[in-house]
Amino acid sequence: MMAALLGDQPIMLKLTVKDLNVRGQRVLMRVDYNVPLEERDGQMAITDATRIVETLPTLKLLIEQGAKVILMAHLGRPKGKREPSMSLRPVAAKLADLLGIPVAFADDCVGEKVEKTVGVMKPGDVLLLENVRYYDAEEANEPAFAEKLAKVADLYVNDAFGAAHRAHASTEGVARVVAKRGGQCAAGLLMERELKFLGEELESPARPFVVILGGAKVSDKIQVIDRLLEKADALLIGGAMAYTFRLAQGYRTGKSLVESDKGDVAKAALAKAKARKVEFLLPTDDVIATPVKTEKMDKKGKPVIEWQNPRVNADLNCPDDAAGLDIGPATVKAYTAAVSKAKTILWNGPMGLFEDKRFAEGTNAVARAVADATQHGATSIIGGGDSVKALNRAKLGNQVTFMSTGGGASLEFLERKELPGVAALSDK
Ligand code: 3PG
Ligand code: MG
Repeated sequence: MMAALLGDQPIMLKLTVKDLNVRGQRVLMRVDYNVPLEERDGQMAITDATRIVETLPTLKLLIEQGAKVILMAHLGRPKGKREPSMSLRPVAAKLADLLGIPVAFADDCVGEKVEKTVGVMKPGDVLLLENVRYYDAEEANEPAFAEKLAKVADLYVNDAFGAAHRAHASTEGVARVVAKRGGQCAAGLLMERELKFLGEELESPARPFVVILGGAKVSDKIQVIDRLLEKADALLIGGAMAYTFRLAQGYRTGKSLVESDKGDVAKAALAKAKARKVEFLLPTDDVIATPVKTEKMDKKGKPVIEWQNPRVNADLNCPDDAAGLDIGPATVKAYTAAVSKAKTILWNGPMGLFEDKRFAEGTNAVARAVADATQHGATSIIGGGDSVKALNRAKLGNQVTFMSTGGGASLEFLERKELPGVAALSDK
């Protein structure tokens, strides 16, 4: 049983994998194995296996209890084509390594061959199916395709939090089919943990509750900001989205990334913060640089920008020829102080262009502050995506309370939108 907040509904109870009797049963389990891959010597190699590692507790439980485990996942966005670079085959090999048992691989996710392979599975066996997005019908959530997927399922488990915001056949449609037949549909242990930390923990957080939000766009985060203004004691803003706030306050933003049409949205957030007496911290200084177009082209055929003359800017106005790329030292100090007082911390989004060392200090300093506060007893929750990447780069990933495996999914859940992949699971 699991308590989770779904949309505006009160606490709902969903089955978890612990509630199931799986012995000898075919358990069709959706996982998010959408991992980063890199070509090395003509082979695709996994560069970060976190999403695979995080499913091991659920898998071990199912194996121990004698389930026949059939895993399905997507990789990349092949748009209905058999794109060889997006095959899940390397993931099967990695999973076998991690589990220490063989993991069979089927080069399709539906059809007779899959049914035959499943037909000879024994309790405790694990099979990974090929990329469900090799079929258009997956993202279209076609009922006929969901029926085909469900052919090998007695029970359905969803451990793919990272894909739970998608209403696709493997995340949503198939659960409906299994449930209609009277089969149970349950959350995996990773899904349960994600909903606990991003859900319950943040509904009644220990105070002060400090939220750090970064990233490029206000429009990506505005609903999260709006929602969190009802929960947080302080909101710390970094990343390019800070410039949309500055523009709204009447400052010059130079060549910084801004959404000039989002001024009203920014002003409304500032007004709400004031009305609710939420501390709303914006950067007071930054690291700026001058963009220079080079001869090199990026993948999209646009000239690569070189950032020249990086320097600290203590003025709230940005020079016309420069762009802001990181928070400055005074801001780092203020944000570190705010984080050090927190009992609950939520962090989503980097403070600047952290992939470039010259603009990584703000993000790294926040990462250190979050790790320090955690050591002093705070609960720290990292909302997926780039902030997780930044923490891992700073080798601080193991020094926070919880890191989400979801990017888009964690944002949508923080907005308290209903996640179709969770909604489709069986109520207690
Ligand atoms: C992710 O990596 O964000 C999830 O696996 C979902 O992938 P998608 O954005 O392609 O649906
Ligand atoms: Mg995504």
